[in-house]
Order: sequence, then C-alpha cells, then structure tokens
Amino acid sequence: SDLAAFAFGLPKAELHLHLEGTLEPELKFELAARNGIQLAQTSVEEVRATYDFTDLTSFLAVYYPAMEVLQTADDFHDLAWAYLLRAKEQGVVHAEMFFDPQAHTSRVVPFSAVIGGYRRAAVRAQDELGISAELILCFLRDFSAEFAMATLMEALEYKQWIVGVGLDSDERDNPPSKFAAVFARAKSEGFFLTMHCDIDQVGSIDNIGEVLRDIRVDRIDHGTNIVEDPALVALAKERGLGFTCCPVSNSFVTEQMKADEIVTLLREGVRVTVNSDDPAYFGAYVAENYVALAAQAGLDEADLAQLAINSFEASWLTPARRDAYV
Ligand code: ADE
Ligand code: ZN
Repeated sequence: SDLAAFAFGLPKAELHLHLEGTLEPELKFELAARNGIQLAQTSVEEVRATYDFTDLTSFLAVYYPAMEVLQTADDFHDLAWAYLLRAKEQGVVHAEMFFDPQAHTSRVVPFSAVIGGYRRAAVRAQDELGISAELILCFLRDFSAEFAMATLMEALEYKQWIVGVGLDSDERDNPPSKFAAVFARAKSEGFFLTMHCDIDQVGSIDNIGEVLRDIRVDRIDHGTNIVEDPALVALAKERGLGFTCCPVSNSFVTEQMKADEIVTLLREGVRVTVNSDDPAYFGAYVAENYVALAAQAGLDEADLAQLAINSFEASWLTPARRDAYV
C-alpha cells in the first residue's frame, strides 16, 4: 500500500534492536555448519515452528540456546552485517544496536571476539551503506550484579566502540535497583544509560519509577506501562525521555501490540519510537513495525513521520548530527 511504501521510505533510526535477535534460521544453519555444530532441528521450517511464544520467558528459552552457533569474530560480524543489510532496505540511516556479551562470555566465547566482530560490521555499514551504527552493551539482569560489573570493567578497554549500556532479559525478581551501582559506574564512565522495562511485568510501574527517579536513565526500552501513572508520564515528557517501543514484539510476549498505550503517549507529546526488538523471532523488521502499528491504530503519514522524528530526537547522535535529520 501507499502507507507501507511511505513507512519504508522514511529515514529513521532504530534504537531497540538486539543483534542476537536478528539471527535468521538460514544464517543459523550456515554458522552451525561452519562451526561443526549439530542442531536439534533439520530445516528452517522446523526452527520456525519453535517460535511459539506466549510470554517473555518462553521467548528467552528459545533465544539463548540459539546463540550456540555464534563463536568467532567472523560469526558476530556476519550476524550484524546481515541485519544492517536488512536495515538499509527498511529505511534505517542510524542504528543503536544492543548486544548481550554475557550470553557469550558465559559459554566461554571471548568478549574480544564478540565486540570485534560487531564493531567490524558497524564500521563497514558506515562505509558501504551510509548507515551510522553504534553498539549498546546490555547486561543480563538474571545474572548477578557482580558479573555485570565485571563485564563493564572488561568493556572499558573498548569504550570508544560503545555508546551506552542497557539491561535486558528476565525482569521478574530482577528489578533495576539490583544494578544501581553498575549503572552509576557506567554513567561516570560517560556511557548513556537505558533499561528494559518490559510490558506488563509484576511491579512494572514501580520499576519505571525507579528507573526514572533513581537510576536516571537517558531512555527506556518498552516502558509503556508508564501510562498507569500520569505524574510519571509528565516527568518523562518534561525530560524529553525517549521510549523504544516494539509493537510486533509486544504482540508475541503479551496478547497485543499495546497500540493504545503507544498512541496515547504519542498524542501527549512523549518521545515514543517504533523498533523491531528481535526481528528474526517476531517476523518483522522496523519499517514493518511502523506498518503494523499504523494498521492497528489507524495512523497516517504525519503520525509515522513524527515517530521517525522521535527516533532521531531520542537517539544518542551528537546534537549536530541529530539536527541534520530532524
Ligand atoms: N532480550 C532480547 N529481547 C528482549 C526483550 N524484548 N526483553 C527482554 N530481554 C530481551
Ligand atoms: Zn528488547
């Protein structure tokens, strides 16, 4: 349709994208063969049949084991490069990409291989695709704060390759406060801060309050449960805080896209953005998320353009480079 063509053509930033969540089954088989790994499934269809998620936990139970095929710097490069080629087709001109080093170092893959491969793809994207690509190091919140701090220390050697830090994985029993010291240290090192506040978790609104008032993040990933507390919405608006929403992902880990919440925030002038999260698993890259949200919520071209403007305003581009886009 015309609106879909408009959505694809809009220059946009993608701000909520897990590189490990871009592993398409075809590449998974290629990497498995390269590394001599025998997979439990024998066809792409069989792999896709396991993508039967009912919540975040059942998604993560498929997501982490799949990473076994990622072993060398070349593997990480190839994964990120495949994503960046797709991103180009989706109108992405700037990407801030999450990666989960602990999902690899915990199975004895060196940090240097992970970040070295990803960085090579990011540099190549600038040179060959005209996409500026940055990395955000995510800590896995179901591991200890000590492991997170050790990972941060290991990352300092690569500081110039990392724009910010985030927090992902299972939020249940792993509130933001668990990582307060890690995030305080990351901030003092000059990193931007973001955290996942997943949809409809137990204590979502308390966690969002903590993330805003105590941790003082620069952005929130998901976080649309904030609509439950008008005072927090007012605070987020006053700070110009970005929210990285992922409508199609929401429809997998809950029953719905949470379009009402996203559009309520958009209409109130809160900086909500649209992103793909784990596109290989949820079957939609970023422009496809714009299209899905538009269809669900009856958005028009002006709304989609506002979402794209928000994506630059919520980005961690330098002010001069941001202003060149908006
Ligand atoms: N890791 C990858 N995608 C995630 C998500 N949507 N929430 C929490 N952890 C994740
Ligand atoms: Zn996410």
